[in-house]
Amino acid sequence: MIKLTIHENEKLGKINPEIYGHFSEHLGRCIYEGLYVGENSEIPNNKGMRTDVVEALKDMKLPVLRWPGGCFADEYHWKDGIGPKETRKKMINTNWGGVVEDNSFGTHEFFELCDQIGCKTYVNGNVGSGTVQEMSEWVEYMTFDGESPLAQQRRANGRDKAWKVDYFGVGNENWGCGGNMMPEYYADEYRRYQSFVKQYNPDSPITRVACGPNADDYEWTDKLMARCFARTFEHLHGNLDSISLHYYTVPHDWSHKGSATDFSKEDWYITLSKTLKMEELISKHTTIMDKHDPKKIVGLMVDEWGCWYDVEEGTNPGFLYQQNSIRDALVAGINLNIFNKHCDRVRMANIAQTVNVLQSVILTEGKKMLLTPTYHVFRMFKYHQDAQLLQSFLTGVDETGMGEWMVPEVTESVSAKDGMVNITLNNLSADDAKTVEISFDELKVSSIEASVVTGAMNAHNTFENADVVKTEELKNVEITETGIKVTLPACSVVLLRVK
Ligand code: AHR
Repeated sequence: MIKLTIHENEKLGKINPEIYGHFSEHLGRCIYEGLYVGENSEIPNNKGMRTDVVEALKDMKLPVLRWPGGCFADEYHWKDGIGPKETRKKMINTNWGGVVEDNSFGTHEFFELCDQIGCKTYVNGNVGSGTVQEMSEWVEYMTFDGESPLAQQRRANGRDKAWKVDYFGVGNENWGCGGNMMPEYYADEYRRYQSFVKQYNPDSPITRVACGPNADDYEWTDKLMARCFARTFEHLHGNLDSISLHYYTVPHDWSHKGSATDFSKEDWYITLSKTLKMEELISKHTTIMDKHDPKKIVGLMVDEWGCWYDVEEGTNPGFLYQQNSIRDALVAGINLNIFNKHCDRVRMANIAQTVNVLQSVILTEGKKMLLTPTYHVFRMFKYHQDAQLLQSFLTGVDETGMGEWMVPEVTESVSAKDGMVNITLNNLSADDAKTVEISFDELKVSSIEASVVTGAMNAHNTFENADVVKTEELKNVEITETGIKVTLPACSVVLLRVK
């Protein structure tokens, strides 16, 4: 029998809402068509932002949005995206499909979007092909409220008050598309660039995000931490607030990643097994960070994660448009539980990418919009945001899988907020329901709300049938003498809200 033991009196730390963050790049139909259709569109919009998409993202409680890339950020020149739209420069999006980028969505539009969603802002600067001056002026343009040429320019462009930049990325993937740098070189560049990310508003400082490692590049983390955190002057409050980590779940290899919906049971287990690598990556990077920073001052921001499959047939290969199935729901549930459990170091995570790109929560086609299985998981997990992580562990969990691709049958995380305990469980088995007995230290359970996202492993929503996968009430739950007994269907992600 699988048992989940919850020590509700042992609070392990706050789950930062930003762990449920998202990433939106100028890539394919994420920004254009997905989030932004322009004011003259027939699709209902508010100042150009799709009303249906914004409403869905609000309902999911999207806490923070990263923009404008990704690799796109490393060739983005922000001044091209301000001022009258008719005079904005057109450029080629060299990373993503070679299409024309007309810059109609720029800095002002990004802040308008975040304002409508009600989320925090994460702007990614250009280290790869930009200059220190360009980055420093962007920060001044966005955040300086006094008299200066850049603040005046912002006012002339229609925005009087400075915006709040919550997070600022000093480069993206500088080990790859952001300049192919070596760790020592990037670390020195980081030190120089971040010096000019000025804190104009000390009461609400910008959290700087340095480009961290690609997956298991532990040397990168070690060298970055050594050069940027250890060798600093305490009175300057350190150079480094946080570092990023990028890890995508790619079922096969980069040249043949595999289909989003047409996959075998073995692919199911390969995908989930590769997703679970996130636990190892975070643990090992954390150990290295702990060596340099035992007080855990520096955050680890998993600011790109999710499934990366072959694009849907007939779509532009550079647009990274893929479907999303119950398998993606499990990938989301597994990762989010891992992030919760590591909330002492993981302060933000951003799934790639919000709409129409990679593991999206929303897909659009013209006026139509659908919510993916991943969306339903994010909406269920929203109760963890800002909650206290509770001590919890499973016993009696066997492995399931095929060949070398073995995974635990069930994973979990538990939090508490506003008098409610939130338990999220994933059943990774493709075939078997699993019963879990849950016990608490003292809590006498009086009520449970139980919801589930489940279906056949490749079940997904289409524009013709958008409700194949949805959040449903879970029936197989009972209050027992010792706590709760719940049966998780095969291929399921479950939320229990307990009082
Ligand atoms: O999310 C797509 C791309 O993946 C991003 O632009 C880049 O940072 C990463 O390689």
